[in-house]
Amino acid sequence: MKKVLVTGGAGYIGAHAVVELINAGYEPVVVDDLSKSDRTLLEGVESITSRKVQFFQGDCGDTSFLKGVFEWAGPFAAVMHFAAYKSVGESVEQPLEYYRNNLGSLVSLMKTMKGFGVANLIFSSSCTVYGQPDVVPVNEETPFKRAESPYGATKQMCERILEDAYLTGYRVISLRYFNPVGAHPSAQIGELPIGRPNNLVPFITQTAAGIREKLTVFGNDYDTPDGSCVRDFIHVVDLAQGHVKALEYLHKSRSEKLFEVFNLGTGEGVTVLQLINKFIETTGVNVPYAIGPRRSGDVEKTYGDVSKANNILQWKTKYSIEESLQHAWNWEKKLRDIK
Ligand code: NAD
Ligand code: WQD
Repeated sequence: MKKVLVTGGAGYIGAHAVVELINAGYEPVVVDDLSKSDRTLLEGVESITSRKVQFFQGDCGDTSFLKGVFEWAGPFAAVMHFAAYKSVGESVEQPLEYYRNNLGSLVSLMKTMKGFGVANLIFSSSCTVYGQPDVVPVNEETPFKRAESPYGATKQMCERILEDAYLTGYRVISLRYFNPVGAHPSAQIGELPIGRPNNLVPFITQTAAGIREKLTVFGNDYDTPDGSCVRDFIHVVDLAQGHVKALEYLHKSRSEKLFEVFNLGTGEGVTVLQLINKFIETTGVNVPYAIGPRRSGDVEKTYGDVSKANNILQWKTKYSIEESLQHAWNWEKKLRDIK
């Protein structure tokens, strides 16, 4: 059985990827420093898969810790690198922490991989690298605009690091996610925001659960069908399965050096107001909301051209937006013990 190291595997997307890796017959080994998570999702993964997951708590920026993991738990056929800080707002307040963690952990991971002869790497990038695009949908050739935040800049810089370093003998796939939403259909794992959520869907589900009084829609005067922003909301399980497809692509490819980038999204743009209304219609639960001012740094509209991933990775999303919202709600209900 092929072992895959999953950094950040105790987090939202990483935990879903661990489940899909197990389903596809791999043996994931998780590294996470639990700086932005706890063991809850790993317990959920074990319950879904009825499998014990090997877990090492530590910082990917710590090369000697990583070396120990590669010695103890290797050899690894590949690494999936989810570990990073991801809050746009926090990155504005603590830019140096974001550069240290997001860049430092990638560099120390790649050095350790080299030391152990591991070449295959799948990296978590983001649609944030495109900044405010001139034309939608964005494809992988769309040039980067200046990043809107230090977080966005770390993802652009990480991609540059990968692009420079792969020539020295790595096989890299960088996956640019659009807006991951939803939860596992079993409701045993999902998103666990720390404190007040910044992202739309956890704010919707917490408002529906009565934890937040109301949701503020950040702007209804954009040049979009109903004035609210347009996004590409992708079910987290579809996203996780995209990683397994990327891994299969790496295994099939014979190139000694490889660097490929893929957008992972649904290819469909949905407005914020449409999403809120779909949630209300699908779940039958009301979400009080009010229109507020625009949020600084928000992109007016973005959604992905995902034909490259469809054609080359043979990957397609399976879940509808309604299923994404229902699964997010089922997870919130389970967390809050709502019947
Ligand atoms: P998350 O915060 O739920 O998970 C990240 C995990 O990494 C956490 O468990 C955290 O404890 C861990 N971590 C952070 N720094 C670490 C370090 N130095 N060493 C070890 N562990 C560390 O976030 P997520 O939503 O699952 O995101 C996963 C990846 O996907 C991140 O790289 C993020 O930037 C990227 N991404 C996320 C989104 C999104 O909207 N969720 C969109 C695009 C890209
Ligand atoms: C979506 C839309 C908000 C909350 C972020 C990162 C991006 C990527 C995905 C990591 C926007 C609106 C939100 C609320 C609202 N992450 N909104 N009221 O900003 O598209 O993308 O997550 O790489 O880098 O920037 O996601 O969920 O915060 O917002 O009206 O209370 O919902 O204005 O239009 P965003 P989001």
